[in-house]
Amino acid sequence: MLDTATNRPPLPPEIARRRTFAIISHPDAGKTTLTEKFLLYGGAIQMAGQVRAKGEARRTRSDFMKMEQDRGISVSASAMSFDFGPYRFNLVDTPGHSDFSEDTYRTLTAVDAAIMVIDGAKGVESQTQKLFEVCRMRDLPILTFCNKMDREARDTFEIIDEIQEMLAIHVTPASWPIGMGRDFLGCYDMLNNRLELMDRADRNKVAESIRIEGLDDPKLADHVPPHLLEKLREEVEMARELLPAIDPDEVAAGMMTPIWFGSAINSFGVKELMDGIAKYGPEPQPQSAEPRQIAPDEKNVTGFVFKVQANMDAKHRDRVAFLRMASGHFKRGMKLTHVRTKKPMAISSPVMFLASDRELAEEAWAGDIIGIPNHGQLRIGDTLTEGEALRVTGIPSFAPELLQTVRAGDPMKAKHLEKALMQFAEEGAAKVFKPGIGSGFIVGVVGPLQFEVLASRIELEYGLPVRFEASQFTSARWVTGPKAAMDKFVNANKQHIAHDHDGDVVFLTRLQWDIDRIERDYPDLTLTATKEMH
Ligand code: G4P
Repeated sequence: MLDTATNRPPLPPEIARRRTFAIISHPDAGKTTLTEKFLLYGGAIQMAGQVRAKGEARRTRSDFMKMEQDRGISVSASAMSFDFGPYRFNLVDTPGHSDFSEDTYRTLTAVDAAIMVIDGAKGVESQTQKLFEVCRMRDLPILTFCNKMDREARDTFEIIDEIQEMLAIHVTPASWPIGMGRDFLGCYDMLNNRLELMDRADRNKVAESIRIEGLDDPKLADHVPPHLLEKLREEVEMARELLPAIDPDEVAAGMMTPIWFGSAINSFGVKELMDGIAKYGPEPQPQSAEPRQIAPDEKNVTGFVFKVQANMDAKHRDRVAFLRMASGHFKRGMKLTHVRTKKPMAISSPVMFLASDRELAEEAWAGDIIGIPNHGQLRIGDTLTEGEALRVTGIPSFAPELLQTVRAGDPMKAKHLEKALMQFAEEGAAKVFKPGIGSGFIVGVVGPLQFEVLASRIELEYGLPVRFEASQFTSARWVTGPKAAMDKFVNANKQHIAHDHDGDVVFLTRLQWDIDRIERDYPDLTLTATKEMH
């Protein structure tokens, strides 16, 4: 039998119950608080506050996070799995600061949906908009949570209009707030005809839910004071007239976003949002790959690396590659083929990140995220299969827009510096170029704060003070082409040639004119501002 929505046979239940998503938001909108409450409702933690506590512990473990603390930004990302009723939720964390957006963009290739959290008083902020655009490029379904309704927020229609206008997406209210700020009572659940009342006394309590028969139900008056009830009736009537009703197909296509109103800190609206993820989530989706797409219910296991995190445990200097399972049923100990090198890899100690700790993953299904500890074999963009030469596509690499020269404070430590830089290049945290002439390395990043993060990580993780200095170059282009043309080009442009961490040739310059000249003089060569990740 075919699923009416997708026209495909239904997925096996173990896969169909998985929901893999990320939260996108502007810093301070409440992403951490919401994550905490997800885990609370998922029964993964007993008491809210542990996510933050865990964050603190991680920070003390690795002092590099001090910077994160000082600046109030989140640099590292991780994945968390927890159950919600019959569903398995995999939440992939995204760093919030715009300078780390490369990482965030890649993370978004590993999820099937995104939760957009906005602050009810601030509406759509710059970072929300940027991240939204990435989701849009991938037609990801987006569910919206309008947070902090317990504070003075904007008018509900105004918020909805702003989302529709700034993001060019249809918005349908899944709930409607009753009062706001100090008067915020709760919400009218537009999808299930329920009244949800917020409990201000207990921030960790599930909201009280009262079944009612439409807005004329006399029971409403028992819970909502007359002036708020009148406003609610008026607004909901207007909303039903002016705004579209929920259309699951449009939500799945990323053309419509349902919006829930709530207060994460008061645990309010969170359960309804989670029910929404379960219902509209969607289940694991097919993955684009070369030479063919991968369907989640294929028997064979496939997965791809979307993130590499080094030094998660400073004692072990390990690296963890985060693998999104694209298909099949993985079991611990399986031998998979590392497609890039064609080598077999026994995956003997994969980890899953359950709320409070990492655990050995005995099994994983399409949709899950597992971490594979390794010594550098696994890179972003790598595909693992049971033998077939498949390569997952669409993992973006960004043109480094800012270039700086980096030198070790102690010139004797140049080798150590090289090692540290190679590690960050493999993590995807920066592009590293070794010029053919002269000493030092040139580092390319997308946002200026990345230089500071790198300097601080190199010092803390490798005990190596470094200096970043202005580089004479401002642009980098990868160059490919037939060997004879490449040799001629490299010989004639020695001052401008560098190699990246894979040994590929890069042309460095400060003039667009130079790039045009090369393109004109060497028609056989291709110059690109980015390189496929792998
Ligand atoms: P982020 O991860 O998106 O950056 O946001 P985070 O959850 O850290 O929340 C940012 C601030 O907003 C925090 O306050 C948090 O307590 C507060 N907050 C989150 N949800 C709500 C809500 O529903 N209502 C209200 N009124 N505040 C909310 P903080 O003072 O910066 O940190 P903290 O001292 O409370 O930890």
